[in-house]
Amino acid sequence: MFPNVALNSPVSPDPGADIIITDIVGNEMVQMVSEVHLETFRGYLNARLGPGYACALIHWFAQQKGAVALAAFDRNRQAIGYAIGASPSLAKKLQRDLAWITVRSIVLRPWLILDKRLWKVGYARLVKKNDADNISHEEDLPQPTMSLFGIGVESPHRRKGVGQRLLLAFEERAKALKYRSLLLWVYADKATTRRLYEKCGWSPCPGSIESTGAIKYVRLLDTHSV
Ligand SMILES: CC(C)(COP(=O)(O)OP(=O)(O)OC[C@H]1O[C@@H](n2cnc3c(N)ncnc32)[C@H](O)[C@@H]1OP(=O)(O)O)[C@@H](O)C(=O)NCCC(=O)NCCS
Repeated sequence: MFPNVALNSPVSPDPGADIIITDIVGNEMVQMVSEVHLETFRGYLNARLGPGYACALIHWFAQQKGAVALAAFDRNRQAIGYAIGASPSLAKKLQRDLAWITVRSIVLRPWLILDKRLWKVGYARLVKKNDADNISHEEDLPQPTMSLFGIGVESPHRRKGVGQRLLLAFEERAKALKYRSLLLWVYADKATTRRLYEKCGWSPCPGSIESTGAIKYVRLLDTHSV
C-alpha cells in the first residue's frame, strides 16, 4: 500500500507521474525503503547486518533534522529506490545512535565477525579519525556540506533514469536546506555508479582514495537558484 503522505518532491510533484519521488515519512515507508536497501546492497555489510539494522538506518535519516531521506515509488506504488544523506559532522552521531542495533545484529549473526569488510570498515574509521587529509578535503568545500550516504534502485527498475532523478531530487533537497556542496564516497572500481555521478555533474577528487578503496566525489551547489 502506498503511504498516505504529501508528495512534495521538487522533481516529480505530479502524483500521476510514472515515478514519484518523495520524502520518507512514517514507519510504513521506512519499512518499504529498508527492503529496497536490503535488495540493492545485498552482500554488502550494511545489508548483511539484517532487516532490523536496515530499518534503523533508514529511520535515522528520515527523522534526523537537516538530513535528506528520499524514496522513489513506481506506478504500482511500490518503493523502487531511495537516497539518503546528512552532514558529515553527524557521522559520529549516526554511529552512536546505531551502536546498539549494530552490536545486536552482529550478536545475532556471529559469522559476520569473520567478514573482512567488518574489520576493514572499523579500521578505516579509526584511521579517518586522525587523518588530517580527509578533514582538509571537506574543509576545502563551500560549507555546509551534505554527504550522500547511500543511493539504490531495485534491479528490475535500473537503467530507466530513476537513479538520476533521485540524485537530482537529493540535490534540490540539499539546496533547500541551505547546503552549499555535496560529497560522497564510492568504491573506485564501481564504474557504473561513478558514471551515474559524473553524468549528474559530480567530480572525482584525485588522490582521495582511502584504505577501503573508496574515492571521493564532490559537487558544488548553485544556491542562488533555490
Ligand atoms: C547505481 C544505481 C543507483 C543506478 O540507478 P539507475 O536507476 O540504474 O541509474 P540511471 O538509470 O539513472 O542511470 C544513469 C546513468 O548511470 C550510468 N549507468 C547506470 N547503470 C549502468 C550500467 N549498468 N552500466 C553502465 N552505465 C550505467 C549510465 O551513464 C546511465 O545513463 P544512461 O542510461 O543514459 O546511459 C543502481 O545501479 C544501484 O542501485 N546499484 C546498487 C547500489 C549501489 O551501488 N549504489 C551506489 C553506491 S552508494
